[in-house]
Amino acid sequence: MTGAPPSPTPKPEVRSGLVGVISHRSSISSIIGATLTYRGINIDELTENGTFEEIVHLLWEGSLPRQPELDALKAELQSAFPLPGAVIDSLRTFPQDADPMRVLQAGMSILGMHDPDAASNAPADNRRKAARATAQLTALTCAYHRVRKGNDPVDPSPALGFAGNFFLQLNGREPDAIETEAIDKALILHADHELNAATFSGRVPSSTLSDLHSALASAIGTLKGPLHGGANRAVMEALEEIGSVDKVEAWLEQKLAAKEKIMGFGHRVYKHGDPRAKHLKLMSKKLGELTGQPHWYAISETLEALVTAGKDFPPNVDFYSASTYYCLGLPPDLYTPLFACSRAAGWIAHLFEQYADNALIRPRALYTGPTEAHWVPIDQR
Ligand code: COA
Repeated sequence: MTGAPPSPTPKPEVRSGLVGVISHRSSISSIIGATLTYRGINIDELTENGTFEEIVHLLWEGSLPRQPELDALKAELQSAFPLPGAVIDSLRTFPQDADPMRVLQAGMSILGMHDPDAASNAPADNRRKAARATAQLTALTCAYHRVRKGNDPVDPSPALGFAGNFFLQLNGREPDAIETEAIDKALILHADHELNAATFSGRVPSSTLSDLHSALASAIGTLKGPLHGGANRAVMEALEEIGSVDKVEAWLEQKLAAKEKIMGFGHRVYKHGDPRAKHLKLMSKKLGELTGQPHWYAISETLEALVTAGKDFPPNVDFYSASTYYCLGLPPDLYTPLFACSRAAGWIAHLFEQYADNALIRPRALYTGPTEAHWVPIDQR
């Protein structure tokens, strides 16, 4: 009897970097062309009208808050800022020159040890942990910075929102209106971004049913890299290296000739422009003029013009963040932590989704090593 020949085994396809792989369904944020939405609302509308707390509600609960819901969330975040004394004590044991992203990663794990709901993944417990972890990540960033400078942590103020309290706890003084606006916009713009590397890496531990703090620590470690959230700090280092507008062209030629990446340009998903960049560009210009440091914006704008004339790598969210944060007086090693303080909201929304509809994340590798190897006794190797 002759049957149909067996169909050939499909050749496994390896997608390095998971380029183009769709691993999840998600209703949190979408990137379509050069449009980013959170829960369907364009990021431009959110940045122009919202506050970070409204965005947190949108991401976690799926809708913009009504006034009583917003008041309740603000109060919840406000009451969650204070760090356990033992966490502040542990900050004092870290090296003064530790990378703050390492401190946030370690700090998130330590916060998990002190969280009363740490071991539970029940939705109500995770929701309580969410507010604590979000507020405490900001408190941790600010407290570490103050401690490493020999200062005491500063208490938050109930009179200020999340953005204002970031500034107050960092600097020990209340921000003015433009400083608050700049931080609030930065927090909104960074709050979520579909399945970026850090979000994916946060979903992996939660898919094993590990806990929320462990998942956040994983995400923080992933965000740290210069190809991801660490790019904003690398941009500032480049701007400082360039130093003045007349040196931009030569600097760029030398970097391109050496085949080095130009930090703050290019994106895995956006190939024709990152919709967040224009908001930060406006803010960078405004703050540069207001603080008497217009050269950072001028260098950035010149670099953008030269890079985009030669190659199709438009600036991404990190490019104008750098000069914006510089003019706000942030030390460059806190640029990525500020990103993390915002993105915690998005990470947590994704963790809620993961726990609610979980499948263990466990891809396969195409084995390329030897197949017929054998044990060799140690004296014969
Ligand atoms: N500067 C110079 N060349 C760049 C570049 C940049 N910023 N971004 C991409 N390229 C080039 C690559 O060298 C590569 O060239 P090749 O095909 O000749 O090898 C090509 O464009 C594709 O880039 P690749 O890195 O493979 O694409 P990706 O999708 O993996 O990369 C990034 C996306 C973000 C990692 C990349 O654009 C990058 O490294 N940017 C700088 C870091 C940064 O700003 N990160 C923050 C992202 S929000």
